Amino acid sequence: DSAPLLDRIAAADSLTSLEGVRVALLGKSGEVTQLLKTLGGMDPATRASEGPKIHALREAVTNGIAARKAALEDAALEQRLATERLDLSLPAPERPLGSVHPVSQVMDELAEIFADLGFAVAEGPEIEDQWHNFTALNMPESHPARAMHDTFYLEPKDVEEAKVLRTHTSPVQIRAMQALGAPLRVIAPGRVYRSDSDATHTPMFHQIEGLVIDRDITMGHLKWTLETFLKAFFERDDIVIRLRPSYFPFTEPSAEVDVGWSMEKGRRVVGGSEGWMEVLGSGMVHPRVIAAAGLDPDEWQGFAFGTGVDRLAMLKYGMDDLRAFFDGDLRWLKHYGFGA
Ligand code: PHE
Repeated sequence: DSAPLLDRIAAADSLTSLEGVRVALLGKSGEVTQLLKTLGGMDPATRASEGPKIHALREAVTNGIAARKAALEDAALEQRLATERLDLSLPAPERPLGSVHPVSQVMDELAEIFADLGFAVAEGPEIEDQWHNFTALNMPESHPARAMHDTFYLEPKDVEEAKVLRTHTSPVQIRAMQALGAPLRVIAPGRVYRSDSDATHTPMFHQIEGLVIDRDITMGHLKWTLETFLKAFFERDDIVIRLRPSYFPFTEPSAEVDVGWSMEKGRRVVGGSEGWMEVLGSGMVHPRVIAAAGLDPDEWQGFAFGTGVDRLAMLKYGMDDLRAFFDGDLRWLKHYGFGA
């Protein structure tokens, strides 16, 4: 008779007590399990009449426990829904928010300014081969400029195929010309590496390269482009620049670009012309560089420029220690309005 067993199941008022009942009935030495075991010792006739009853009992108990379990779980859920309340009007706990690093911010600003002038963004690897970093830029082996760059070599220097950490973004000039052909207008922002470290030098820093290749490009286009970009970047109309003759192996003629500064609130700011500071290297792309990248220098010419992104960030936001850029100190970022 299953009724008394089903009553015990119905009397279980929690999942824990129901589990106790289940073990008492269906467990290894549970009452129903014991009954099942007696089947083996019965003579065939008794087994034929008792077997179905015992199996039916086990099934009724099993179903009864499952149904009771579902009912208890439902009741527990109802209970929680009735008692737990969320006050959605409470203010959320404050969470510290990250912010864009000044270097990333300046790279974004530059990409936007140059996008307006029709420049696309080009990229190249930070682990570069010497051909792209030097040779194609008119710095053949034994060229003194190779030594000047304080290069990090990834293998002993005399290994012919030794890769380097790129010392400037200029190799992206070559890669962009190879990949995209001419005409071409790109900027290439990215990390560069030189074995050098003091208040104004870190072994890793950031440059942005600009390259325009077309027909009939002149120094005039270069000067206008730089003036326009510096005015947009520093958000001032009184930006003046001057080009000084200089030397880079990959440009001819080459010019260093100075921007005028003036004193405001005891601080040197870009704008006006109380003095000059150097901000860029530039020039007309050397015909050998154009040829090395696979273009015909009789048909195509252009200008290129390169500058330090970290340096531009320092000038725009009045920061004075380059090393602080890479310390990850939130107090420093917040001081300049970058942390949250
Ligand atoms: N690559 C040069 C440097 O790192 C900068 C430069 C770029 C100069 C393009 C001329 C043209 O100093």
